[in-house]
Amino acid sequence: MCGIVGAVDRRDVTSTLTEGLRRLEYRGYDSCGIAVLQQGALRRVRSVARVASLAAEVAEANLSGMIGIAHTRWATHGAPVTRNAHPIFSSGEIAIVHNGIIENHEALREELGVLGYVFESDTDTEVVAHLIHHAWKKQGGEHESDLLSAVRHALERLHGAYAIAVFASSDPGRVIGARAGSPLVVGLGEQGNYLASDVMALAGTVENFIYLEEGDIAELTLDGVRVVDRAGHAVQREIKLQRSSTSAVELGPYRHYMHKEIFEQPSVIADAIENVHTITADLFGAGARHAFREIDSLLIVACGTSYYAGMTAKYWFESLAKVPAQVEVASEYRYRSSVASPNTLVVVVSQSGETADTLAALKHAQSQGHRHTLAICNVASSTMMRQAQFQHLTSAGPEIGVASTKAFTTQLVALFLLALTLSKQRGRLPAAQEAAFLDQLHRLPAKLNSVLALETQIVAWAEAFARTEHALFLGRGLHYPIALEGALKLKEISYVHAEAYPAGELKHGPLALVTSQMPVVTVAPNDALLDKLKSNMQEVRARSGQLYVFADADSRIASGDGLRVIRMPEHYGSLSPILHVVPLQLLAYHTACARGTDVDKPRNLAKSVTVE
Ligand code: G6P
Repeated sequence: MCGIVGAVDRRDVTSTLTEGLRRLEYRGYDSCGIAVLQQGALRRVRSVARVASLAAEVAEANLSGMIGIAHTRWATHGAPVTRNAHPIFSSGEIAIVHNGIIENHEALREELGVLGYVFESDTDTEVVAHLIHHAWKKQGGEHESDLLSAVRHALERLHGAYAIAVFASSDPGRVIGARAGSPLVVGLGEQGNYLASDVMALAGTVENFIYLEEGDIAELTLDGVRVVDRAGHAVQREIKLQRSSTSAVELGPYRHYMHKEIFEQPSVIADAIENVHTITADLFGAGARHAFREIDSLLIVACGTSYYAGMTAKYWFESLAKVPAQVEVASEYRYRSSVASPNTLVVVVSQSGETADTLAALKHAQSQGHRHTLAICNVASSTMMRQAQFQHLTSAGPEIGVASTKAFTTQLVALFLLALTLSKQRGRLPAAQEAAFLDQLHRLPAKLNSVLALETQIVAWAEAFARTEHALFLGRGLHYPIALEGALKLKEISYVHAEAYPAGELKHGPLALVTSQMPVVTVAPNDALLDKLKSNMQEVRARSGQLYVFADADSRIASGDGLRVIRMPEHYGSLSPILHVVPLQLLAYHTACARGTDVDKPRNLAKSVTVE
């Protein structure tokens, strides 16, 4: 995680850097900072406040310069205090920002201590700063071209992941960037050249980008950009045009991005399926048609909310396509000794396409001999999309709120399309059924609008949830992962402890927690398991638990003592989870608002988790 920006410009770089940080803040917000070269000296402003107040501090400190670097931090090594905020300096001569984790930092710290370096922070980054300084001094240090080779030699010593941006006080025209394991792009402009963790950080500044590859080191000057590989050999990297609109990341009339993104779900889903009029493997890229025929099972790997999308889809793959599906948390799968099957399709699901564990899991699957891999992802240019054999873009548009909402529902749409594709290829999707599913998909945005219209009723429930410290969520079958997602949303943004259970498991433990003080949210679609679920609800009621039920209009559950009901539209068949997650998103959102938490930037979390 962490976001980094760097610039070499004909103009003062401070506003480009602070604006870039503002757009990268989703990557972490424990602290932020900016450093420039001003009258031959390194100058910086660092703060544990948010980026919004950094610009004022920069102005107050009269910071300005034509080269500079900036950082927004998600703390790994060292508490989130100013001393550990980036940019980190070495000997007043080298400035660095870093995203990633250096695993051998302790050994390097000792070695550098012996060489006389005094550490001012608890960060792993400071060892990189001193290593670069040491390498730079060792090779003469004053020559401008030396900085790139000093960085290269320092990087040879590192184990772990990094994206860095570096400049030196005695080299006024150069910024060096490098990446391995963490993302970094180079932006090429008329007025200058830039580095950033993602292209959105530079939207409106440049439109031409180089996506650095693993091990690449880039040297940015006003004259251009030179890229070398790990060994120092010059390499050519393709320049890609990417026009991004900044309006997509503006808040508009909403108070929070999460609220905006919840309400965008009908339109982004409409966009995602606009051109889908037949079910075909071509939706997943060239060659998928042939490869998918060989598939006899699925392995879905993801983290967080994306993992729950995979869990939901497992039910679709097995019931519609009759293809066995296994779903694994990426951080577990990547280190597990597993048995690869050449006919398994490995599906990585990710909003960002940069989640370190999911990327590593993809690599692990490939190294284990899995031939077929598919990325379902929301960022076309992400590492995951580039590394998987097949791709499907979820088209949710930029998601800024840390708690994922529209990315989740568009992932579900993509996974449903995949289930239909596999089903059709296996002769299990008659034309009439295909048409019915497509019709249902195209009517989904209107259905979602009718669920969003329930907001006022949900706000009233949120008042009660704001006063509780614990909640249980229940669901069964296809809606058990939706209960899990509802509990995750509540805990991550409102800090209310929430746990989800398959309703049938209640009696094996969690029922002991049920008292008149325990709210129990129940996802109650009118599906084949409804009667079973109703029995589980009675078990809660008999123990005075407070049931909050999201029931389909035709679920026939009436409000009563200790039982509150919000009535959803009529049951929506296989696509029901996409409707049922929305009120849970709204419940979490309004509970968080009532508790006054920082909804879009919940404590200790970040949107893009680019470290293990
Ligand atoms: C973080 C985010 C979650 C997200 C998860 C996986 O934890 O806060 O919202 O679901 O990462 O991210 P990905 O980008 O791979 O979907």
